[in-house]
Amino acid sequence: MIEKSNEIKKLEQEKVKVSKKKSSKSYEIDNHLVLKVNNLNKSYITGNITIQALEDINLEIRKGELVAIVGPSGSGKTTLINCLGALDFPDAGQVIYNVNNNGEGHDITEMKNQEQKNMRLKKIGLIFQFYNLFPVLTAYENVELPALIAKIKPKSRKNKVEELLKLVGLGERIEHYPTQLSGGEQQRVTIARSLVNDPLILLADEPTGELDTETTLQIMKIFLQLKDNGHSILMVTHNDRIAQAADRILTLTDGKIIAERKAGKHIEDIYKIEFGGH
Ligand SMILES: Nc1ncnc2c1ncn2[C@@H]1O[C@H](COP(=O)(O)OP(=O)(O)O)[C@@H](O)[C@H]1O
Ligand SMILES: [Mg+2]
Repeated sequence: MIEKSNEIKKLEQEKVKVSKKKSSKSYEIDNHLVLKVNNLNKSYITGNITIQALEDINLEIRKGELVAIVGPSGSGKTTLINCLGALDFPDAGQVIYNVNNNGEGHDITEMKNQEQKNMRLKKIGLIFQFYNLFPVLTAYENVELPALIAKIKPKSRKNKVEELLKLVGLGERIEHYPTQLSGGEQQRVTIARSLVNDPLILLADEPTGELDTETTLQIMKIFLQLKDNGHSILMVTHNDRIAQAADRILTLTDGKIIAERKAGKHIEDIYKIEFGGH
């Protein structure tokens, strides 16, 4: 306990450079959008084999929209999320975010390293299949960490962390360590963590991939609640059923978006069909 608190203190004292500079170039973006992707391409070269992981991807995410991306394994879903979060680098194309919510877009692929870090810290909430929580930190501390790095003042930080843990239904478990939490509870922590710096958008890669049906349903309900609160969410999923609760579904196959359809089914109706009315 003592060691850990010292670590947190050190972090608090550290001068973390959080760039406030805007990226040099800006692009006009419809102010109803949070993200616009233009002709995104990405290939991987292994030996003399080239895999076109993403081919001419174009998509738009509107503010307050929940969009699902579905597609078979190997279709490029993770590559896409990683390119959108500047965790991987596309060969060509643009990933334009409405960074300041004013129609002045910035291409994350053109940003310098520090600016990209700042985007991930403050503007993009990332959620992964395997939670990626720090095992030595409690639920509270895991959620607090990005706010600490972003230099949010202690009082507003505390309020925010507590509010978010309550929102995801973990108000009673804030002092638990990840090993003391179920998979679903750990994913709730990562959702709270992704929201702590009030991002523009949440990018989730198979957030329910490790969870049973009942827990998947609970996590999806949290995403739907966040959407109702105005959050914009792009979610990759293998699960065609929960995808139907999203506003739109994009289907990725061999690195290409081959279909787009409106969805927006009521989540209880989807599961009613599944369980024959129970
Ligand atoms: N780091 C990498 N090096 C080489 N090939 C990769 C790498 N990452 C992904 N790929 C390949 O790119 C394609 C898309 O992978 P991925 O985006 O992980 O798909 P999905 O998430 O839909 O399962 C696959 O053929 C995969 O083997
Ligand atoms: Mg994947």
